[in-house]
Amino acid sequence: MNRRAVVTGIGHYLPERVVPNSEFEATLDTTDEWIRSRSGIERRHFAAENETTSDLATKAALAALKDAGLEADDVDAIVVATSTADLTFPSAATMVQASLGMTRGFAFDVQAVCAGFVYALSTANALILSGQASRVLVIGAETFSRIMDWTDRSTCVLFGDGAGALILEGQEGKGTPQDRGILAVDLNSDGRYKDLLYVDGGVSTQTTGYLRMQGNQVFRHAVEKLAQTADTALARAGLETSDVDWIVPHQANIRIIKGTAKKMGLDMDKVVVTVQDHGNTSAASIPLALSVGKSRGQIKPGDLVVTEAIGGGLAWGAVVLRW
Ligand code: ACO
Repeated sequence: MNRRAVVTGIGHYLPERVVPNSEFEATLDTTDEWIRSRSGIERRHFAAENETTSDLATKAALAALKDAGLEADDVDAIVVATSTADLTFPSAATMVQASLGMTRGFAFDVQAVCAGFVYALSTANALILSGQASRVLVIGAETFSRIMDWTDRSTCVLFGDGAGALILEGQEGKGTPQDRGILAVDLNSDGRYKDLLYVDGGVSTQTTGYLRMQGNQVFRHAVEKLAQTADTALARAGLETSDVDWIVPHQANIRIIKGTAKKMGLDMDKVVVTVQDHGNTSAASIPLALSVGKSRGQIKPGDLVVTEAIGGGLAWGAVVLRW
């Protein structure tokens, strides 16, 4: 028998305000056509002025708890993947814990930018496999609109706000790749590339800062590293590309998504794509895509799902799980 961390509930939340590409044409030297053709993005959601990352996270968490038929106190731990927490501290996760009225367990944030949700899934999986927790609420939530330089057309048109959440629960499996739950994880980072994508502010510099990105350089690394991490995680699970039902990639750019699928030898009809509607929501993009993919009827129980992401650090990784 092998303990597995199985997804038993999922949900998401997107802020009300939808911003189409055309809205940027009034203030920037850009066009809907450029944004669509270079990134695949058509629209994104932006949080309201008084709406914070933990607000979005709490709404996604409530949807996931409802889907699992659970109350907040049925959960042992909350892990929030975010780079845009409400305050420097405490963690967004403890804010979600308070908003949910959860009176037990423990909560903390994980920060690996766009790879954050993959890192958070890996952390929650380790908590469950080690016996430290039986049920973990894993959330990806971001308000990247708060760290955009609205005069920089090469970044501000690409990002959006949102949150996705899922419940991971320890269950007994047979120790085979047919088990439900997380089957393998692969995590990587290489700090030599820290200057390709960063925020030029923070606590030590007493500023909030803005996102800065050498987009074409990040692009260069993305396809190769994403295909490689997905292949590594699949091999670790004792599986092959031909076993995959769904790739649920980080949603940064449709050209990266297509390039990675091609490099892996997978057709696009096996890829869940939401980038056109959400933009790049960093750590929220994978749980959002999982939740939307399930509600579209794409991801079904028993399906083999591979999630993969890359972001600032550079940090990248993949998780193979059976739904
Ligand atoms: N509208 C019009 N023109 C633009 C815009 C815009 N919004 N933005 C940039 N351009 C121009 C540039 O100035 C440049 O002009 P020049 O040739 O006169 O200098 C030209 O378009 C081409 O720019 P590139 O950056 O080479 O364009 P590219 O095809 O690489 O597309 C993009 C840019 C969309 C950013 C792409 O490189 C990309 O998606 N990169 C990866 C982003 C990513 O995956 N990030 C990782 C995760 S994010 C995270 O971790 C937080």
